Amino acid sequence: MKKRPSGTVLSVVAGARPNFVKVAPLLRAFDARWPRRVQFINTGQHYDDAMSVAFFRDLGIRRPDVNLGVGSGSHAEQTARLLVGLEETLAKTRPRRVVVVGDVNSTMAAALVAAKLQIPVDHVEAGLRSLDRDMPEEINRLVTDSISDRLFASEPSGVEHLRLEGHDRRKIHLVGNVMIDSLVHALPRALPRRAFARFGVEAKGYGVVTLHRPSNVDSPAGLRRVLVELKRIARRTPLLFPVHPRTASRIEALGISPSPDLRMIAPLGYLDFLSVLREARFVITDSGGVQEETTFLGVPCLTLRTTTERPVTVTEGSNTLVGDDPRVLYPLVLKLGGARRRSRPRPRFWDGRAAERVADILAGLIQPTTSRKARVIG
Ligand code: UD1
Ligand code: UDP
Repeated sequence: MKKRPSGTVLSVVAGARPNFVKVAPLLRAFDARWPRRVQFINTGQHYDDAMSVAFFRDLGIRRPDVNLGVGSGSHAEQTARLLVGLEETLAKTRPRRVVVVGDVNSTMAAALVAAKLQIPVDHVEAGLRSLDRDMPEEINRLVTDSISDRLFASEPSGVEHLRLEGHDRRKIHLVGNVMIDSLVHALPRALPRRAFARFGVEAKGYGVVTLHRPSNVDSPAGLRRVLVELKRIARRTPLLFPVHPRTASRIEALGISPSPDLRMIAPLGYLDFLSVLREARFVITDSGGVQEETTFLGVPCLTLRTTTERPVTVTEGSNTLVGDDPRVLYPLVLKLGGARRRSRPRPRFWDGRAAERVADILAGLIQPTTSRKARVIG
């Protein structure tokens, strides 16, 4: 671990693909305010180059101060390794505050460790609720929010849930969406790449698919049904399907091969993915982040789930929650046709400046006590 000059103000924790997209703007904002006093911990929950290194490169994320290399495992195994590694690191560093993002196991573990070390936790993307406790992410969200000191919400539903759960209003801040900060920052570099052309498709002439939720990919019969429907759609409109490693191993086990028009490809780097997303005719997904990005870009999005924790993408954006029966996809895609995109106002504070708002609020909490020597350790 590198030594920082004068006490760590913040430790920022990330570990999985969507985390990297979310911490990039936060690290930029924090490093500018507290140079060399922000510790960046990569838990290593995701570790393939395509799920990790590619994002550091595309998003200009600096080298982590610590890499815990926790890797994969059952929920218990992975969480246990996260808890041990994070406790060791945070007990040594004793930052003034710990910042966590999103809803993955790394998020929940970091919040738990910090809270037990009596270090205040700041949760960015707080309050999102699918109200479906079969999702591991919903458990992570509930645990993280219940022990966080500051709760930074990306959309109004987040604020509402937190209020209903009895959180102190003064600790809840609607700041906007840090994932959209990254998008706004990267789009000028992403668009000229025209990455779709590499796969032999034309702008607005293809669909994009991403699927990785256990509910869609973990049951062999369910996944087979999804793939049958995707192949049907692909015969009409070619589909680019960058396959998440969880899904890749399930497809391999099924022995299903790509058809010429259902192009199963390796996960794309962030810039290539944005460029592909922007020119897609439609998107089929179960990703949280992709629902938000398509709303910002105005690209029609069909979400293959029964719930969304991001309702603003439906009420104000371009997202449709289609349920979990993949047979509904084909008629919906037909209905979309080549429909022109309606441009709509974007959700409040989805403007590229959410991370700055978080930094402003944290500065108010950190400044008054910078001289307290007892807190400046490490
Ligand atoms: C995790 C998050 C999920 C998030 C998703 C984003 C949890 C509980 N889940 O799901 O909320 O939407 O990341 O992508 O935290 N694997 C690799 N290489 C990697 C990473 C994973 O091969 O770099 C494979 C391993 O076989 C692993 C499986 O993918 O067992 C699942 O990885 P894991 O991090 O446990 O969960 P995700 O499905 O990626
Ligand atoms: N993403 C990417 N390449 C891909 C698929 C997704 O860069 O091949 C990006 C996407 O733009 C978004 C993030 O990964 O920023 C979302 O991650 P994921 O879907 O894995 O997680 P979720 O948001 O569902 O937790």
